[in-house]
Amino acid sequence: MTKAEQLQTVAILVPGDFNDHAVDRINHTFRPVPIERADPSLVTEEMRSKVRGIASFAGINAAMMDALPNLELIASFGVGYDSVDVGHAAAKNIMVTNTPDVLTEEVADTAIGLLINTIRDLPRAETWLRDGSWVRKGNYPLSRLTLRGREVGIFGMGRIGQAVARRLEAFGLPVAYHNRRRVEGLSYRYHPTLKGLAEAVDTLISVAPGGASTEKAVNAEILSALGASGVFVNIGRGSTVDEAALAAALANGTIAAAGLDVFADEPNVPKALLDAPNTSLLPHVGSASDHTRRAMADLCVDNLVSWFTERRPLTPVPETAHVKAKAIPGKV
Ligand code: NAP
Ligand code: 8YV
Repeated sequence: MTKAEQLQTVAILVPGDFNDHAVDRINHTFRPVPIERADPSLVTEEMRSKVRGIASFAGINAAMMDALPNLELIASFGVGYDSVDVGHAAAKNIMVTNTPDVLTEEVADTAIGLLINTIRDLPRAETWLRDGSWVRKGNYPLSRLTLRGREVGIFGMGRIGQAVARRLEAFGLPVAYHNRRRVEGLSYRYHPTLKGLAEAVDTLISVAPGGASTEKAVNAEILSALGASGVFVNIGRGSTVDEAALAAALANGTIAAAGLDVFADEPNVPKALLDAPNTSLLPHVGSASDHTRRAMADLCVDNLVSWFTERRPLTPVPETAHVKAKAIPGKV
């Protein structure tokens, strides 16, 4: 058998409604195994014995991994992988890959768009034009807020955080940041605590990943530190925010406005955030262009191809970077 013929025998589980381009490539390269969702109760005996890889949009939990004893690789679609139990994967010698870099600039563009929408109220201004208010009532009211004179803090100065910071520099705005560790070679002011960062700036952009270490990190104390002219933008993960505290801070003037692309329980958005006059909300579209989703799909599938041909991943997550592929004599 040629390598290509061998690859076509490798069963890859594809839960749910996956990216079309990725599905197309998986169909042509591997033996695709569709499943309604990543739910161990839906795993058949055949899946149990055959599946060696998963290509996944959504989360993969420990029970799902345990239901697939021959699973070697989870190729996660997206750079954030908080919905994959990577600790369990590492313990079971299962490799996890993600799709870093190829989406960085797109997500940074979206962050800047959301920041401006939030501060200058552009979506409501467009509605004013479209619903005839411009003709009936005259000019749209002046925006209460401006980007001019603001100081921006970035929570999560990684790949995307730095791409956002580069854009803000071009806007003439000072930038500071908080990470657990200072980033070597960056001249932006570093704050060892999120509270210190929130106190120092009036605009906070979160690009931090989800997971236990960031759970509800943006809470009432941080919002209060940001202050009454404060603007909060979240392009990272909804789990990093205490949404009830955010809704209260927006209602009682603790901060001025918020722009959110991500939510704790997507696609459900708390009514208090939907109804607030000082929020700008997007349905998790940070990377959602054809161009970028195609690049993410290619990297997701290229990881599968590399693992099952070269026996190494292209972009492993740090938690499973040490996982080694078992040699299978006579097989890819
Ligand atoms: P990255 O390069 O790994 O950057 C993450 C940054 O967060 C790192 O600088 C890291 O620094 C910091 N960080 C992690 N845990 C922290 C903690 N507990 N406290 C403080 N800082 C912490 O990742 P990226 O490629 O920039 O992506 C970042 C995140 O953006 C993803 O994980 C994902 O959740 C989100 N995202 C959202 C969209 C969207 O559509 N809205 C699209 C893509 C990505 P330290 O390790 O030094 O703390
Ligand atoms: C995707 C994202 O929408 O990459 C991420 O972490 O949040 C987005 O790019 C998501 O991963 C699709 O499942």
